[in-house]
Amino acid sequence: MGRLLMDKIPLQENWKIPYPFSIVENELYRLEYKSLNGRIEESLKKISRNAPVVTKMYKHTERNDVFYEIFWENKGDLYYETISAGVLASKKELLKLADKGLSCNDTNAKYFVEYFDLFIGQNDIPKIEMTDRIGLIKGRFVHPLVEKNLKVLPNDIGEEQLLDSFQTKGTLEGWIHNVFNLVKNHPKAVLPVLASFASVILHEADLKPIVVDVSGTSSTGKSGLMRMCASVWGEPEKYVGTFNTTLVAIERRSTFLNSFPHILDDSNGANDSRFIQPMIYQYVNNTGKQRGSINGSQRTDSWSSLMITSGENEIVTYANAQGVPARVILITQFAFENVEADFLNKLYKSVKNNYGIIGIEFLKRWKSSRERYLNKFLEYEKEYLEVSNDNAVLKRLSRHYAFIVFTGHVLNELFRQEGFQVDLKALQQLYIEMNKLNNSADMPLLELQNALEEIDANRNKLYSDFEPHGSINAFYHNGEFYFAPAYLKERLGANEKQIRYLWMKRGFIMKFSNRGNDVDYKVIKKNKRSFRAVQVNKDIISKLGFDFS
Ligand SMILES: Nc1ncnc2c1ncn2[C@@H]1O[C@H](COP(=O)(O)OP(=O)(O)O)[C@@H](O)[C@H]1O
Ligand SMILES: [Mg+2]
Repeated sequence: MGRLLMDKIPLQENWKIPYPFSIVENELYRLEYKSLNGRIEESLKKISRNAPVVTKMYKHTERNDVFYEIFWENKGDLYYETISAGVLASKKELLKLADKGLSCNDTNAKYFVEYFDLFIGQNDIPKIEMTDRIGLIKGRFVHPLVEKNLKVLPNDIGEEQLLDSFQTKGTLEGWIHNVFNLVKNHPKAVLPVLASFASVILHEADLKPIVVDVSGTSSTGKSGLMRMCASVWGEPEKYVGTFNTTLVAIERRSTFLNSFPHILDDSNGANDSRFIQPMIYQYVNNTGKQRGSINGSQRTDSWSSLMITSGENEIVTYANAQGVPARVILITQFAFENVEADFLNKLYKSVKNNYGIIGIEFLKRWKSSRERYLNKFLEYEKEYLEVSNDNAVLKRLSRHYAFIVFTGHVLNELFRQEGFQVDLKALQQLYIEMNKLNNSADMPLLELQNALEEIDANRNKLYSDFEPHGSINAFYHNGEFYFAPAYLKERLGANEKQIRYLWMKRGFIMKFSNRGNDVDYKVIKKNKRSFRAVQVNKDIISKLGFDFS
């Protein structure tokens, strides 16, 4: 860009260098006057061995922030930096450009401030609109590969990489036939893929952000599915994020992606799962913290999108907060059933070769026919509210679910010619199954039920009257039932702490005091040996229909 052009042209000829400054052989000078023996003498003082010029002015579309692109040459290398206007006005801030190779130091910084101010005043600097995020901005939809009149300038490296992931490969038909058709008979995979499309038009129905979570045992293709969802918009490997991150980073990503789906793979990979609950809360309530921008003005970030997550445990396992389950569509026990042995390899390969085009085309076709379809959403909304029965959690999710299915309907219409065919009936069947499950709102209870079931089925590992050979999973002692901590650790894995904490809080297991601290275990003595044991509340055991006596 412009690089070659400027390469050979002396800087002075492109810009007006403001008096008293001048540029000589790419170095910046300032005309100064000295009094010598009563006579005033002119002398050229060298300010810097680099002579930067301001090449562009960027005006933020959503705020009043202004940024400048500055350009300079240093030992034959050309440098472009985009910095906020405040940097050019501050000696201290300017010094930071020394790290970027500009010869700016304590002595000359004040001259640079003067120089830039005069330079901007006297040159007609091209003004360009910019944004630091993508998606729907002030009524205009910004897709980075489509938008030509708005420059996207991300705030940090992470966002820059995300922006870079917006690339295309393959063909429209290639994606439909090789990527989508591969999973079209698996509604549990189709739903999140549709959610990836639905995200960018969510604002049309005035729906709040929610999470679509896919959970199931390891190696069932969840990570592959996340990549497939990402392939709608760009290079999947780069687009998909991880849970090994922070609350603030998630917020920034959500803000940057704005309308585009926020895809995060493998909730088990979180280095601290305690951040997941506030993360979901923040995401669905769209409550980015207010934070100061570079020039001190406050702003609140917002987004209108869907989050798509995967993990071995349902994400609500980590989120006990009231209301969170009602904002998560749970696709559980995920697996691609009845597929050939090399199915997952095929899936990975197909998304490596086909991405990005379908998303661009979807936005384009939606834009020209949205009015025709939007009314249809009301029908889906009504239909899904009806099949929700009296399930409170499902009722609250029904509009979102209906919207995702509606998006499937729209895709069928928009890409009829290319043979895109979403099985909408199968998605309704999936919804009814979710309805039957009905315990999705209460993961801690489900985990307890599962653990008790396992012990019930493996009585030889229950230490009741006789000590088992090998490992002990649980105890029955003086009319009470206890888990062995080692068993819980093995069964609950990374979530052990969180779930035990929730169990204690809910009164499923008993609370004891140990030197002033609340603990969920006590020491029991069986046959002269002491064991640490986690006592389960009698009431909950009988409520769930177990009897270990
Ligand atoms: N990068 C890859 N390229 C091709 N195949 C892959 C790749 N990663 C995983 N697979 C295939 O997918 C299988 C596991 O799927 P994965 O999506 O990782 O499941 P999950 O996320 O549910 O644990 C692997 O056994 C392998 O066959
Ligand atoms: Mg995985």
